[in-house]
Amino acid sequence: MQTVLLFLVLIPALALGQTADPAPKNLKCEHEAHPLGLDETKPRLSWQSAATNRNARQTAYQILVSSDQQKLAANQGDVWDSGKITSDQSVFVEYAGKPLRSRQRVFWKVKTWDERGKPSAWSPMEWWEMALLDKTDWKGEWIGMAGAVGKPPRSVQARKAFTLTQKPTRARIYATGLGSYTLNLNGKKVGNDFLAPGWTDYLRKVFYQTYDITDQVSVGENTLDAWLGSAWWSSGLGWSGGFSYSDGPLRVLAQVVLDFPDGTSQIVATDGSWKVRFSPITYDHLYHGEHYDARLEAKPGFDPNDGWVNATLLSNASNPTTLFGNDPAANAANEAALFNQGAVKVVAQQEPSIRLTETLMPKVSEPKPGRYVFDFGQNFAGITRLKLTKSQYGQRIRLRYAELLHDDGTVAQENLRSALATDEYIARGTRGGEEWEPRFLYHGFRYVEVTGLSEKPDSRTLTGLVLHTDTPPTGQFTSSNDLLNRIYQNCRWTLRSNSMSVPTDCPQRDERLGWMGDAQIFAPTGAYLMDIDGFFGKWVSDIADSQHSTGYVYDVNPKMVVGGPSKPAWGDAIAVVPWTLYQFYGDKRILERAYEPMKRWVQYMNDDSTTRRHGLYHFTNGSGWYGYGDWVPVKASPSKPIGGAYQVYSNQLLANTAAVLGKADDATKYAAAAKQYTDRYNALYFNEKEVNYLGKTQAANLMPLSLGVVPDAMKAQIAKNVADDIRKADNHLTTGFIASQMLLPRLSEAGYHDLAYQVATQKTYPSWGYMAENGATTMWELWNSDKEKPEGMNSRNHFSYGSVVEWYFGYLAGIRPDPAGPGFKKFIVAPQPVGDLNFVKASYQTPYGEAVSSWEKTDADLTLNVVIPANSSARVVLPLTAGQAAKLDGKAVKGKELTLGAGRYRFEIR
Ligand code: BGC
Repeated sequence: MQTVLLFLVLIPALALGQTADPAPKNLKCEHEAHPLGLDETKPRLSWQSAATNRNARQTAYQILVSSDQQKLAANQGDVWDSGKITSDQSVFVEYAGKPLRSRQRVFWKVKTWDERGKPSAWSPMEWWEMALLDKTDWKGEWIGMAGAVGKPPRSVQARKAFTLTQKPTRARIYATGLGSYTLNLNGKKVGNDFLAPGWTDYLRKVFYQTYDITDQVSVGENTLDAWLGSAWWSSGLGWSGGFSYSDGPLRVLAQVVLDFPDGTSQIVATDGSWKVRFSPITYDHLYHGEHYDARLEAKPGFDPNDGWVNATLLSNASNPTTLFGNDPAANAANEAALFNQGAVKVVAQQEPSIRLTETLMPKVSEPKPGRYVFDFGQNFAGITRLKLTKSQYGQRIRLRYAELLHDDGTVAQENLRSALATDEYIARGTRGGEEWEPRFLYHGFRYVEVTGLSEKPDSRTLTGLVLHTDTPPTGQFTSSNDLLNRIYQNCRWTLRSNSMSVPTDCPQRDERLGWMGDAQIFAPTGAYLMDIDGFFGKWVSDIADSQHSTGYVYDVNPKMVVGGPSKPAWGDAIAVVPWTLYQFYGDKRILERAYEPMKRWVQYMNDDSTTRRHGLYHFTNGSGWYGYGDWVPVKASPSKPIGGAYQVYSNQLLANTAAVLGKADDATKYAAAAKQYTDRYNALYFNEKEVNYLGKTQAANLMPLSLGVVPDAMKAQIAKNVADDIRKADNHLTTGFIASQMLLPRLSEAGYHDLAYQVATQKTYPSWGYMAENGATTMWELWNSDKEKPEGMNSRNHFSYGSVVEWYFGYLAGIRPDPAGPGFKKFIVAPQPVGDLNFVKASYQTPYGEAVSSWEKTDADLTLNVVIPANSSARVVLPLTAGQAAKLDGKAVKGKELTLGAGRYRFEIR
């Protein structure tokens, strides 16, 4: 037995015959395993190698795409056979087969060749399905209920019955609505999305969704119900309560397509034959709440007593009730552009849907008789499900949502400003109980105060439903420091709470907008935590959709409430976000699509700066206000220079983008511009005598240092300015939410890592730890949210200060994208142990697979485990202190830095 084993071990693996490498895994088309309803005609395909050997690398691939599963099984790529392509590309390979047709489903697989030229087995099969590629594919019309208008318009229900004589082999619904819609087929919810169709700049585009209902339709009569609510479209958004795209009527566009075994098909589309009525939702508003009267529910069918009337066609510009602004002619033109039959601007959804991702159980108290307070233990965004075991007809239950409690234990809604955040349910009194959850809103809350119950509730009376754009989690971080771990979790919850089709500033008050400064500062952290490529990529297209004709962009996107031009560090999101996504995901298409909008913004700043005395951009409103500056800081810094610093940065990012896209002239032009503005900035804002930047604050130094303005020779001095200032403040930061992102990374890079750690683990005001120590379960908007006036601008769930988590991954664990190999084709592992931290474990799902950096200290020794996924490589920078040396596989490592291929590595440092 032993000799046989020995013999086997001695035979080189290849000589044993053609045992193929393990098959590629985790196939993706665009951002999903099997997207249903794509309208990208050149979708991109990605996969991961399953090889676990060191230096595993792909040297070639072959993709087969077939029109059916049998052909694919027989290796017939009748739609596309790429042939063997010599390439190490395994992420975002563009489809290059036959033109794809509307509604076509194709099946695909891939095989790869490794570093020895050895082929893998074929991967498991995957599929994707196209949606409606041509306007003429839409047979339905926008319908609604005539006269159902208001501020907000009343929710309506649209119904259609249709009969099937045979079971379809395939059934789909393509649907959208304005505001928001839900569908029910034969009494069951269609799909698992919330708040579809999501939020876009509706005047430019509206998403539609595709649902597979093959298993939900039956032979005989089927009933399809659409419910419509206001959500972003017609609630009236913003703190002045004013911005509505429309005052109604709400509308739906839907099309059921049924394909039968005999090759025929049937379409049931929204048209004048549908019936509409007011739904039992008597009021719904994204901020204020939803009121539901269960007594108003319709019976099955079309009982005339239920108020059914014929649907009105709204696919024409003459409908007078839709408001796009104050100019009736412009309204009519806008409406015609958006809704005219044949000019429907609907686009297949490009980002993950909002979904229910977790349910939470509360603890219940009764601070005042009959006022029950449910505490979910966690601030989050979502809704609740109310369960009544006993109820009376007409019983009214009120639910008030809040992030905070008053001292007496009742809910405190003052910081929601004008948002009423109150739901109401009127019971039908069903024997055996009843259940309800709102459909067309979400709240940001930890507590709910419920009144009107006839029985003492328990933790089952109310369930917390966590809702957000369902981006796949990517990062995991844990350390020996409990405070860091709590801040990390708070940050994760804050990202989840502010992923609502658009990255928002906050989920609770009368705002919840796509503020640009917040999102660009947080983007790298967001990318460490979740796969935000599809989500933020879609938002980049929102920014572009809303861009002004002169090139400036807006502070909030989709554009609303705040006029342009956008302010420094806010407007620059149009450059920073695509570039960040490219670094993390290697998504070149985002750069291609963002390029012109990015360039127009940069050119807007550059043109504007020619009118300035010093030829450098700054924002001004003409009366001494220069923009938001380093927003909500401890110590204010001058705002005016920030325009110039970001002008430099955005010019440089544009130049980098041009280089990636092969636009050599632009690359040269904007790199030269960046250099020129750098010089002007330093001439204008650097004080040679004081060796400090104007304002001399931490932020005043951090911005030029981070945005590429400080000459190399000066970097150490500028970092020292920051460090000195922190020490003067007894190891506290004074930054606002732009410079806070820059603070810890710059300190760690400049040799002040210990100081960075002290700031990161500080527990007294102002610090991240102060929030966590004072009851925060999400990131606060202000360093002193606990002391500020509660009724002011004071959210407890704002992700901007969460940008600190970028430092956890990038510096404590040391996992960072490497610009030399975007999308983690190449990356950096440069962990920096520090202070009393005994261990850090971080993993990150790169497009190639899992990367790990985890280290543990034991007295003078340190072990470091590194995992580099197949088909990528990493530059590892070992954390050696003076006199230390490292061993890998028992052998001494020469030097501090090494470039490693795929594999698992364990370093012993002594
Ligand atoms: C938002 C911020 C935003 C800011 C602009 C606030 O109301 O909540 O997060 O960036 O306005 O200064």
